[in-house]
Amino acid sequence: EQAEKGEFEHFMLKEIFEQPRTVANAMRGRIDLEEGTAKFGGLNMSVAELRAIDQIVITACGTSWHAALVGEYLFEELAHIPVEVEYASEFRYRNAPIEKNTLVLAITQSGETADTLASLRETKRRGHKVLAICNVVGSTIAREADGGIYLHAGPEIGVASTKAFTSQVTVLSLLALFMGRIRMLSLHRGEKILKALQAVPDQMERMLEQNGEIRRIAQRFASVRNFFFLGRQYNFPVALEGALKLKEISYIHAEGYPAAEMKHGPIALIDDQTPSVVIIPSDAMYEKTLSNLEVVRARKGPVIAIATEGNEALAKQVDEIIYLPQTLEAVFPLLAVVPLQLLAYHVAVARGCDVDKPRNLAKSVTVE
Ligand code: G6P
Repeated sequence: EQAEKGEFEHFMLKEIFEQPRTVANAMRGRIDLEEGTAKFGGLNMSVAELRAIDQIVITACGTSWHAALVGEYLFEELAHIPVEVEYASEFRYRNAPIEKNTLVLAITQSGETADTLASLRETKRRGHKVLAICNVVGSTIAREADGGIYLHAGPEIGVASTKAFTSQVTVLSLLALFMGRIRMLSLHRGEKILKALQAVPDQMERMLEQNGEIRRIAQRFASVRNFFFLGRQYNFPVALEGALKLKEISYIHAEGYPAAEMKHGPIALIDDQTPSVVIIPSDAMYEKTLSNLEVVRARKGPVIAIATEGNEALAKQVDEIIYLPQTLEAVFPLLAVVPLQLLAYHVAVARGCDVDKPRNLAKSVTVE
């Protein structure tokens, strides 16, 4: 096992560090620069069929469900298609109507999650097609779906999913781009998105160089009992994922929240012992998110900001700051999740937790 982990102490850390490569793998052969779009080999649907789609339903569990939420923002922005994101465990028992031209996507790293599989079977029983976004080749969901896209991320061993998430978001970005380009999205915007996606592996590499600094921040906060993760728009699902990572491996209670929703209740929980990680890129929402951050500060809540390089001014207003490279709003989640994965990892290590095999959790939940 140590040989497989190479220079890393845990599979989770190894998999976090693999992400520049796994994201590149998710894009390999799927980029059409000339047409400013993406291409896929296994959708098994014609362009005409895909153009007729006027609604998307995505079913998933856990971290894959968070990737689906990022997908919701992507499909809305790039392809103008309404999206419903469903917990597979709920969807399978609902009478949720699926309209005629609906594309149903199942997202799953393992391809074996019982609830996601049951949702797929239920959807197919009603006569709809299902496409799977899956990592494990030949898994049950990959076999039973009508078509799909593989992540090509390689085996993910750490129970807390890391590289699968970024690969799922990469594939969803490409699929949303493709769906946009067969609709109204311009060549110019398509090219811009592709360029931003292609820059991600190198930008992630630079992000990972901050590992030592993030370990220091993690050690500073490792003994707290509650954590908040706040973000807006594309970064709201990232906040949920950051909180989930911390809960899974460090057993600290954490909540991910849309930053502006704090005022409707959770702000009551903020005190000087309750840090918040605030994802605050220099984007269209910056001023709004900043005012949410200030509300936390006013309640003496420590703040760890995840901000865009060049925003030196913010450093004076927060306790810790982690900078990410400049990119498009739609691509920021791919970068922003990396420091959150590292933060959760180092907090868990500092607390002496078994990072790769957290208590009560399984890599793949094949029973209901
Ligand atoms: C389990 C794992 C999670 C994973 C979820 C969904 O709970 O511990 O890391 O996100 O299942 O798994 P899937 O393989 O369907 O993506």
